Amino acid sequence: MQKPLGPAISVKGLTREYVTRNFFGGVARTTSALSGIDFEVANGELFGLIGPNGAGKTTTIKILTTLLTPTGGDARILGLDVRKDLYEIRRRIGIVFGGERGLYNRVSAVDNLRYFSDLYGVDSSVARKRIPELLEVVGLSDRAQEKVEKYSRGMKQRLHIAKALVHDPELIFLDEPTIGLDPGGARDIRNMVRDLKAQGKTILLTTHYMFEAEELCQRIAVISKGKIVALDTPSELKNMVRDISVIELRTFEATMDYVEALRKLPNVVRVVADLDSEQQTIRVQTPLGADLLPKVTAALPAGARIIDRTIKEPTLEDAYLRLVEE
Ligand SMILES: Nc1ncnc2c1ncn2[C@@H]1O[C@H](COP(=O)(O)OP(=O)(O)OP(=O)(O)O)[C@@H](O)[C@H]1O
Ligand SMILES: [Mg+2]
Repeated sequence: MQKPLGPAISVKGLTREYVTRNFFGGVARTTSALSGIDFEVANGELFGLIGPNGAGKTTTIKILTTLLTPTGGDARILGLDVRKDLYEIRRRIGIVFGGERGLYNRVSAVDNLRYFSDLYGVDSSVARKRIPELLEVVGLSDRAQEKVEKYSRGMKQRLHIAKALVHDPELIFLDEPTIGLDPGGARDIRNMVRDLKAQGKTILLTTHYMFEAEELCQRIAVISKGKIVALDTPSELKNMVRDISVIELRTFEATMDYVEALRKLPNVVRVVADLDSEQQTIRVQTPLGADLLPKVTAALPAGARIIDRTIKEPTLEDAYLRLVEE
């Protein structure tokens, strides 16, 4: 198919409001899910959309995939209008939403893919060749004849990806494709995403895993409360926090009191702690770097220990936290 000359995705002043009605049909509440976003994704680009829960990522994807109409603004997909060219757009894109819905559980993976190939009008001789290839790519060849209800969550997610590719779309939307997968399964999916990019596909991906966005995406838009608060390459986004470094502590028996004490120290920008496991990880963002260490050690309560401490460069997550919290 002819590649469009313009960008694969073009979004201008896009807005979406959700109106919740009360029992009598009156407007109970209006939520502004998107309040005017602009961005473009080039052909062949792997573009990320990150942001906290409720930021508007899925709403954006639903509009771009014609599943939801915008309240205002414009969005073009492969040069086509999301308001007018619904069917042409749907033929040329693939969509993967994280989760288990959207597959037929009572039949096999092969039958699912046959069904969706038919739905997309894929020529049956093409489908006969493509379906086993796709099952191979997503690592389901040996379980392809089993009913999908017997699949694990990770296997269903792989099948979702195969399903999104039956009609060989040029543009692929992935909404949290690795959510709930074990580390190996998530890594397999990331490798699949890289392969799709290498084949020249354009990909828009959302994720809550910052390292995943950093590893995969060429450019990332950070979205918060329905607005894009930053849009750049991962390294430029990280540059926004180059004024800080991060003291990463591994501690034993540290509690929230210690975290609070660290937060009260002068020159501490932010403290992010994972206290759930036996050994805790505490990340202290500070412009002082190693010079803050004596105070960090002095604040340690009796009984707690620092097992290990390292000074690290800020990550995309550090930049992200600053962007969405400020
Ligand atoms: N069908 C709906 N009716 C009313 N409000 C909705 C509806 N769908 C989404 N919203 C609201 O729109 C806002 C954006 O939601 P959206 O699902 O786009 O967020 P998200 O960035 O995908 O979040 P998450 O990371 O949790 O998936 C939220 O405030 C949400 O509550
Ligand atoms: Mg979402």
